[in-house]
Amino acid sequence: MARITASVYTSHVPLIGVAIDQGKTEEPYWRPIFSGYEHSKEWMANNPPDVVFLVYNDHATAFSLELIPTFALGTGEKYTIADEGWGPRPVPDVVGHPELAAHIAQSVIQSDFDLTLVNQMDVDHGLSVPLSLMFGQPKTWPCPVIPLAVNVLQYPVPSGQRCYQLGQAIKKAIESYDEPLNVQIWGTGGMSHQLQGQRAGLINSQFDHDFLERLIVSPDELAAMPHIEYIREAGSEGIELVMWLIARGAMSDATGGPKPTVKHRFYHVPASNTAVGHLILENNE
Ligand code: DHB
Ligand code: FE
Repeated sequence: MARITASVYTSHVPLIGVAIDQGKTEEPYWRPIFSGYEHSKEWMANNPPDVVFLVYNDHATAFSLELIPTFALGTGEKYTIADEGWGPRPVPDVVGHPELAAHIAQSVIQSDFDLTLVNQMDVDHGLSVPLSLMFGQPKTWPCPVIPLAVNVLQYPVPSGQRCYQLGQAIKKAIESYDEPLNVQIWGTGGMSHQLQGQRAGLINSQFDHDFLERLIVSPDELAAMPHIEYIREAGSEGIELVMWLIARGAMSDATGGPKPTVKHRFYHVPASNTAVGHLILENNE
């Protein structure tokens, strides 16, 4: 059977992609940010996944106000890199895993989560920046990726509770797939940030640190945090953090198993208009 061995959490700041693509990672502004991912790349080399299930949000790239799926699962063979206005990032296309994705769709939809299925879409920085941070700059990505695009742009967006429960359903789906795959689940986005309006530029480090701690120690309580608190404390774009609860809900302890081990924890501010937060949690069964 397939297993979820670990979960990875990271911000997906677009300017980080630009810094990587333009060879600026050693510059003084960027150096401390990328140094936080050196251990992660080493860990990844020692713990290579067969498949990454990658929870992210599209930023009005593949979707728009014309079509707003709450949870869109990528069931396609391949995803092309989006042009977000400054040309597509010079990174490889993303190869999917249609067989596992179809199995997850079957299991999760039959567990009463009404997913949208997407066979063709461009993927933006929300998905490609985490891949670059964790895998560096390979010619092809080292494994297939199953994207799950979550609507966190246009209200109503899903609750933390719903996200946490969806993670539990995804775990059940993956663990009933009849092939011994090592699957990692990644939650991306965040941390506190607001890109618009009177509070544009808001960063709340205390909230961010508390969020990281609560995500590790008491994710079920964290899942109960209402939207209004994300907005008040973490800014209008801080709501991206609900996606981390999907990955966290897929860890063993969310369904009665042992607590995960924290393999890496990193926080740095600023990066563009936000703070970079990053965690690696390993399952213990
Ligand atoms: C920024 C944009 C994002 O989409 C995000 O998730 C974080 C930060 C930014 O422009 O700083
Ligand atoms: Fe974002």
